[in-house]
Amino acid sequence: MSIKLLPDIVINRLKAGEVVERPSSVIKELVENSLDAQATKISIDIHDGGKSLIIIQDNGTGIDMSDSKLVLHRYATSKIDSDEDLDTLGSYGFRGEALASIAEVSTLSLESITAGHQLGFRIEKNHNSTSIDHISLPFDHGTKIIIKNLFENTPVRRKFLKSSQTEYFYCYQLCLDFALVRYDIHWVISKNGKIVHDLPPTDDIQSRIVQIFKKDRAQQLRPINFDQSNLTINGIISDSTLTFGSNEYCKIYVNGRPIQDRAIQKAIMDGYHRQIHHGEYPLAIIAIDIAPHLVDVNVHPRKIQVKFVDPGIVFTNVRDIIVQSLGENKTFHGEHKPVIMRSATSILGVKNEASHTHIQSSLFTTETQQEQQGAQVFIKEDYIESTPQFYNTTEYKIVGQIRDSYIIVQHVDGLRYIDQHALAERIAFEKLKKNISDGNYSSTTLLNPISIQLPAHQDSQIISDQLNTLKFETTVRGDHSLIIYKVPQFLVDYTIDIEKIVRHLISENGELSDTHDANLGITNILDSIFATRACKTSIKANHRLSLLEMQQLVNDGFEFIPGGFVCQHGRPFVIDIDKKQIDTMFDR
Ligand SMILES: Nc1ncnc2c1ncn2[C@@H]1O[C@H](COP(=O)(O)OP(=O)(O)OP(=O)(O)O)[C@@H](O)[C@H]1O
Ligand SMILES: [Mg+2]
Repeated sequence: MSIKLLPDIVINRLKAGEVVERPSSVIKELVENSLDAQATKISIDIHDGGKSLIIIQDNGTGIDMSDSKLVLHRYATSKIDSDEDLDTLGSYGFRGEALASIAEVSTLSLESITAGHQLGFRIEKNHNSTSIDHISLPFDHGTKIIIKNLFENTPVRRKFLKSSQTEYFYCYQLCLDFALVRYDIHWVISKNGKIVHDLPPTDDIQSRIVQIFKKDRAQQLRPINFDQSNLTINGIISDSTLTFGSNEYCKIYVNGRPIQDRAIQKAIMDGYHRQIHHGEYPLAIIAIDIAPHLVDVNVHPRKIQVKFVDPGIVFTNVRDIIVQSLGENKTFHGEHKPVIMRSATSILGVKNEASHTHIQSSLFTTETQQEQQGAQVFIKEDYIESTPQFYNTTEYKIVGQIRDSYIIVQHVDGLRYIDQHALAERIAFEKLKKNISDGNYSSTTLLNPISIQLPAHQDSQIISDQLNTLKFETTVRGDHSLIIYKVPQFLVDYTIDIEKIVRHLISENGELSDTHDANLGITNILDSIFATRACKTSIKANHRLSLLEMQQLVNDGFEFIPGGFVCQHGRPFVIDIDKKQIDTMFDR
């Protein structure tokens, strides 16, 4: 077949496929346009998960009548003039292709008017025709866009859409992404014409969270602030008492833009450093502001990824600021959280029902609860009521060992029972992980490179890149063959099956949906492997320890364990009885 240029109609369809993946991508583009137009109020109404109807109205500057003919043209934008503007971008949009793409795959109506004008205009566009009328509008400045029947002319794409409920969930999450970071804007979010959230502007992100969650969670939230000339990181994170069953409240923004970034997601989880259980996620709203010349936002058709000039600096600082904030144990109002010891009832054999359960409840306490499908969250309230630290050498005294398995320690606040095997296991695990996260390991060349055929739906390059950041050396051959030449030495030392670990990674990623795929992957696999390896090298139960050995173990605990006393199997390994509880038990 000879080579020929594709007709515009085909090009438009192809481009539209890149920009508009699902209803939430439409909302994203329209909301970004409203924000670029300096709107202070944005209303979004999502019908049938956005599949049949999306209505977005803003009170921004509106579009000048003279631009009405260009507004749906591909590569027509008011936001940049030259390619140099890309290096100093201050707007969400810059490609001039979003509206053209949306119009390509839906029926679109756009009404707009600029301040001081009697008449605005209305554009109606479907697949066969476009009309522009000059009309008076019921608002004096701003834009209203109605998108009907998304993908009606691309049935294959429409088939890929999920149920209305799931699509609504994606749309809802997207709205929250913006509402959280742009707390200065009045947002009205509706589902099928019924208001779900009416969020007037607030002064800060904490107040926005209270608005959304209908509950003051300030006690469980910590501010994070990092300020350097070219990089600032602001936001809030929850402590280990407020966690969720998915990473839906881990939100990352770069220069105000919500993005997905596996590395930063991992940095967040690393910041919690086992203070929360496997499978739990914190609330973490991380707004990264970075000088425009240090980040490229023009790397993804839907602008949901960015490329940092130095990703390592961003990663390290996000992780460290979280560690620091959790360590300071300060709430929003600046006071230190009281340390509440675990209740004595659990020690005396009365099972505290709340303690080990991962309570399913909802953050939302409004009548619209049922409306927020997908917004059901898991909260752990009662488990680790605090994050007590290990005491340093001067603050404790070893009392002894019971059944050659548990160490009893007396300290200023009372007594502590420690499961020696679990503690040793956790210390070994933390040391190993520290070496890995510090990059304290070398790679080794495999005598026989391993070739793995990846499933067609996986992005081989992403997998290869991920492995290479972990000191593997891999390349992609053909479309889907991954060739592994070098692997980290510790995998060989621990006789870990390389193919298995890579396959495991692939299957984990394969199971994850596109919005929840950020952070599992390699870390989880390494976690589970190292957890079992660490076990094998640890001090066991039923093993008598000398005073010196017990001291060494507790000192190592102080040095290596930042808090969150659960072992990698999810069992607690430290139980405290505070002195008041001891007095109470003796009726004093
Ligand atoms: N809500 C709005 N209010 C005011 N002007 C708007 C609005 N929506 C779109 N426009 C105008 O229409 C133009 C085209 O919008 P479109 O979203 O297609 O492109 P863009 O925002 O410039 O770039 P990108 O494709 O990266 O989003 C914008 O540059 C802007 O001038
Ligand atoms: Mg735009």
